[in-house]
Order: sequence, then C-alpha cells, then structure tokens
Amino acid sequence: MIVLGIESSCDETACGIVRDGKELLANAVFSSMDLHVQYGGVEDAKLGWDDIDGIAVTYGAGLGMCLLAGVMTARTLAIAKDKPLYGINHVEGHVYANFLTSTSLPGYVLPETAPAFPCLALIVSGTHSQLVVFRDHFDYTLLGQAQDDAIGEAFDKVARMIGLPYPGGPSISRKAPEGNPQTFTLPKAKMPGKYDFSFSGVKTAVLRHAQAMCGKDFTFSSWLLPEALNDAQKADIAAVFQRVAIETVVDKTIHAYEEFQPDSVVIAGGVASSPELRRQLRERLPIEINYTDPKLCTDNGAMIAALGCYKMMHNQPTADPYSLEIDPNLSM
Ligand code: KG4
Ligand code: ZN
Repeated sequence: MIVLGIESSCDETACGIVRDGKELLANAVFSSMDLHVQYGGVEDAKLGWDDIDGIAVTYGAGLGMCLLAGVMTARTLAIAKDKPLYGINHVEGHVYANFLTSTSLPGYVLPETAPAFPCLALIVSGTHSQLVVFRDHFDYTLLGQAQDDAIGEAFDKVARMIGLPYPGGPSISRKAPEGNPQTFTLPKAKMPGKYDFSFSGVKTAVLRHAQAMCGKDFTFSSWLLPEALNDAQKADIAAVFQRVAIETVVDKTIHAYEEFQPDSVVIAGGVASSPELRRQLRERLPIEINYTDPKLCTDNGAMIAALGCYKMMHNQPTADPYSLEIDPNLSM
C-alpha cells in the first residue's frame, strides 16, 4: 500500500510517499525561507497515480492560509484521481516519522525497527512541546504540553536576541559548542501540571542576562544586543540557554519514563534534531532511543504519508474530499 502525504501547516510545503507505513519512497520539501527545493527521490520514485492507494493531508494545527493550500490540493487530487483521503493531525504526524525503517533514497539514516508500544513520545517543535503516551496506534493520552511558547519558538527568539540567523534552533546548536554551558544559570519553570511546559520565562531571563553582560539594565533594547554583545558572550548565552531548555524537556521525559515504564521512547518535531537533546537523553534514559534522520524531524510530507498508511491499514475513517475543513487549533 502506497500513500502520498501533503504537509503545508507552516513555512514549508512538502510532500512524501511511503509504502506500508515503513518504507520511505520520496520526500520533497519546498521552503519559502530560501526559495529552494530539496528533492529526495521524487524523480527516481517512478510512481504513477495508479500506484498511489491513498492521499493523506495535514488539516491542523497550523496557520490557516498555509493549511488551506495543502488541504485544497489534497481534496482536488482525491476527487480527480478517485483516491481515499485521510485528514492528519500535524503533531501526531511528527511521531510517525519514527516508524520509517527503510529507504533506498540516498542520505537518510533510519532506525532498523519501528518503536514498540507502549511508546512515550516527546514532541518538540516550533509550535509544540508535548509528552504523549501511545498504548497503540490511535490510542494515546496527552500527558502535558506547552502553556505558552513552545521550545523551538524559544530557540528562535533567543537566537534572534543574540543576532543568530533563523531558524534559531540549528544556529544555537552550531554556536553553543564555542561557549561554556555553565557560565550562569537560568530558571526552569515550575508548572501546576507536572508534564506541562513553559518557555516564556526562560526567554525573559536570557534577555536580562544579556543586558547585564553588556553592563545595561532592563531598559536596554533587545534590538541593540547583537551589536553590544561580543562573540564569546553570544556563545555562552547559546550554550547556557541550550543546556537549560533541553534539560527542562529531558527532566520531564525521565519522570514520564519512570511513571509509565514504556517499551520505547521517541522524540519528534524540529527540536528532535538537536544533538544536545540526543546527548542528554542518551546520558539519562535507561533505554536507547532509535533516532530518525534529522531531515524527518522538521516538517515533511513523509511523516504525514506514514501516518496515512497506518490509518489505511487500521481501517480508520476517511475524510470527505468535498468537505474536509482545516482546523488551525487542532490539538491531540
Ligand atoms: O517541526 P518543525 O519543523 O516545525 C513546527 O512544526 O514547528 O520545527 C521547527 C523548529 C524551529 O523552532 C527550529 O528552531 C527548531 O525546530 N529546531 C531546532 C533544531 N533544529 C530545528 N531546535 C534546536 N536544535 C536544533 N538543532
Ligand atoms: Zn511541525
């Protein structure tokens, strides 16, 4: 069974093709940021519409206008090509990137086996920070989530504050090794829900530290910081922020692991490509994680296609191609 996945919830427009929920056949991302198309295997896949058994599309959560573009495309294709249509929750889709275990596409390193259930998923992206326990496909409980900024958003904002280019996560990842992660400390938010997250406080704390580092008070504009800070100071800020932000999500993942004793742990979403996150989890989790390729952690169509395959294989309800609506605020 082969499913085409379409993803357009945010900056990227992407599509992917997956066989049986596990074999990656194609993955193409068009990024509005650099107007650059990165193809993986689309030309080589040599698939025609006859080969495609279903179409899966992200219908939420995300930016309305972006979601609409993908959903209208998928609806049109489903009608024109007479294929079953599946509406996919973007955040749930991220988790399914971890179920891809084989490909003949060059440049991908995939885990050898799919995650075992029950599975604890840490979903960390530019819009989400969540811990979810999957007892089985389509049978999951949300343990907690971001109450304000998501972790990736905090990476993006701190990067901008110190003058590093967007997207901030990869920029901070590259800068942090030049700095000392112990130069100062930052507060970790205490939340009423033990698996909930908050990243707006740490961002403000970084701002106050950065202002103090250049001998200024809280009235000093954050726009002037990139010029006022020297390179070593920027590297220290990147290193400390990255350590504390990642520690915050790792602390809660370890607690959830101890409480729920899952058979596997997966990480998903753009921040899952962070080498520091992978390092801290390796150090503190008693079991090993089978990490997927970083190219499948950030938004992509293959993860949507993978979940579409599982929906098809498990006889989940299809969407009506004449009426599937977007849901910008969809939650898990
Ligand atoms: O999943 P994603 O592509 O889009 C959303 O659904 O939000 O995640 C994008 C986020 C951005 O905030 C980006 O800064 C972050 O993932 N990110 C990282 C890294 N690579 C991407 N954050 C920390 N370290 C990284 N290496
Ligand atoms: Zn995403």
